[in-house]
Amino acid sequence: MPRSNVKASVRMNVLVVGGGGREHALAWKLAQSEKVDKVFVAPGNGGTALDARFTPVNLSTPQDLCAWAAAETIALTVVGPEAPLAAGIVDEFRAHGLRIFGPTQAAAQLESSKAFSKAFMKRHGIPTAAYEAFTDATAAHAYVDAQGAPIVVKADGLAAGKGVVVAMTLAEAHEAIDFMLLDNTLGVVHAAGDDGVAVPRVVIEEFLTGEEASFIVLCDGKNVTALATSQDHKRLGDGDTGPNTGGMGAYSPAPVVTPDVHGRAMREIILPTIKGMKADGIVYTGFLYAGLMIDAQGHVKTLEFNCRLGDPETQPILMRLKSDLFDVLWAATGEKLDQLELQWDRRAALGVVMAAHGYPMNPRKGDVVTGLPKDCDDLVVFHAGTIKNDSGICTSGGRVLCVTALGDSVKAAQQRVYDAIPDIQFAGAQYRRDIGYRAGKS
Ligand code: AMP
Ligand code: GLY
Repeated sequence: MPRSNVKASVRMNVLVVGGGGREHALAWKLAQSEKVDKVFVAPGNGGTALDARFTPVNLSTPQDLCAWAAAETIALTVVGPEAPLAAGIVDEFRAHGLRIFGPTQAAAQLESSKAFSKAFMKRHGIPTAAYEAFTDATAAHAYVDAQGAPIVVKADGLAAGKGVVVAMTLAEAHEAIDFMLLDNTLGVVHAAGDDGVAVPRVVIEEFLTGEEASFIVLCDGKNVTALATSQDHKRLGDGDTGPNTGGMGAYSPAPVVTPDVHGRAMREIILPTIKGMKADGIVYTGFLYAGLMIDAQGHVKTLEFNCRLGDPETQPILMRLKSDLFDVLWAATGEKLDQLELQWDRRAALGVVMAAHGYPMNPRKGDVVTGLPKDCDDLVVFHAGTIKNDSGICTSGGRVLCVTALGDSVKAAQQRVYDAIPDIQFAGAQYRRDIGYRAGKS
């Protein structure tokens, strides 16, 4: 059992695992809690290194982090990215009596293996695109020929948002199959099969149309609480063109998630998923993110599950969260989410990602970032792929910054962000000019 009898008057140390924009936002929000003393970030980034409230920890394996957290009396750990979750960091911390928010390794398969999550959804009647999984390229090619295009080809395994090809033609689908099954140069971490051996596998699924939204909830093993809704922009270019990325910008709330759609997402997707996992012997704890496809009639299907917060969705969502994040995560790690109602800023928030030259295929590192504004109440620049070195702040990864603002409407938040961006400069910076366009005037 986690240590839970800590007096409220004692300020506690917390650990955020990860180094992206999502983790910068988590650390930023936790640092605002009166219950928090030190915020450690493992490893953090240039933005967290610039801020005296955060202490970097240069450890990465679950075992090393767990031993360190026990020695530092870390009261609460929250995990940002999928990789440590898939590597079993939650199991490791819990085995040593440490309090941590996230899914176990078994539960994280909902994200780490598309074949697992698709089979799970089929078994439990959770709405999703029809599909088949293949390890054999000849069979995959034959399936695609029989189904026709458009069709979607997905690598099974963690691929940092780059393992999905929405093929508008048969030729693109065939190319994707060869690329994923035969070349296997994507860097995909493949899930192991029943025999424990990892083999390249693809999931080929029906092409869905509609509008996407990110639906993220907190689960404590008993209760489920929805976060504010959000919408991400996955394509690199304006008007949703160009290659898929990890996400080029996001805003909250997402008007497409009407109260009716919200109800359906909870009733038809989230609650049956938690129940289905339990029936399969897995208690789900942590954030659960369902990527939704909402059609014109308001029907909702699951595009994917992530077992973590979205990046960049977290940045606008946390700017709107008025509740103390430490209290929320404390309740979520003590099966007490039912005792808490999340409070949200009624304003909208919007974040625009500034990405490195060459992102997403070949991001360049080492460009110096200048003109970063000071954070203020309604504008925060969350760092992701940055590093602090002798030259100041330099790019060190694909998605470099997420410039995030609050406003009375999505439009007002968008204006605030786009007014701030021209001052922030690094060679080759790429960003979309239309983040939030689907929200119209809301
Ligand atoms: P995923 O990582 O599975 O969410 O896929 C990344 C992106 O590919 C999604 O955000 C969608 O834009 C697109 N996508 C995935 N699956 C489908 C599908 N079945 N139909 C249409 N688009 C899809
Ligand atoms: N922004 C999409 C994701 O975090 O998966």
